[in-house]
Amino acid sequence: MANLTLTLFTLAVLFLAGTITADYITSSCTVTTYPRLCVQSLSPYAETIKHNPAELARFALKVTLNQSESAQSFLQKLTESKWLNSRERSAVGDCLEEVNDSLDRVRNSIRELNGVDRVKGREFLLHMSNVQTWISSALTDENTCMDGFSGQEIGGPVQSSVRIQISDVAHFTSNALALINHYLIL
Ligand SMILES: *[C@@H]1O[C@H](CO)[C@@H](O)[C@H](O)[C@H]1NC(C)=O
Ligand SMILES: *[C@@H]1O[C@H](CO)[C@@H](O)[C@H](O)[C@H]1NC(C)=O
Repeated sequence: MANLTLTLFTLAVLFLAGTITADYITSSCTVTTYPRLCVQSLSPYAETIKHNPAELARFALKVTLNQSESAQSFLQKLTESKWLNSRERSAVGDCLEEVNDSLDRVRNSIRELNGVDRVKGREFLLHMSNVQTWISSALTDENTCMDGFSGQEIGGPVQSSVRIQISDVAHFTSNALALINHYLIL
């Protein structure tokens, strides 16, 4: 009986702990522009993130990185397709360059956030403002890519597939930036 009580108690604690960490993600995600995407993409990492805003930001960047890498390989394949006309090929090439740049910025930012919760004052601000700058630039790169596909010159499946891929990446990036900005003013 004592064992059963203990087990039930342990289960209740685990359940509560799980709910509380999930609540942390849900409440943190309210500062983002795409809160549903934020909760959905970060919930699998709730146990690792716990209540740590640095880990929250790092995971938001990791899911962004993941999304950017699939956009990169998609664009890479597209540039090798023989169905593109020269205008499309050049727009896709430009976009690939932007995505490559933004991937570097996201990778550097994940590194920069490592251990940032253990430093204070000027050092903390220095690391955080680097990350803020790089991720704002990454978002700009992604929007520049989208602009290349917004006109009348490029239409059809090339336009829509690139726009879908890149807008996904931009939504993840925008969410990560919101979490980073929020962490900076905590
Ligand atoms: C990365 O993306 C793949 C497929 O899109 C997914 O299966 C995987 O869980 C993602 N990993 C992370 C860390 O988000
Ligand atoms: C983008 O990065 C990929 C992989 O690192 C590389 O193969 C490709 O040449 C790069 N493309 C541009 C346009 O920078």
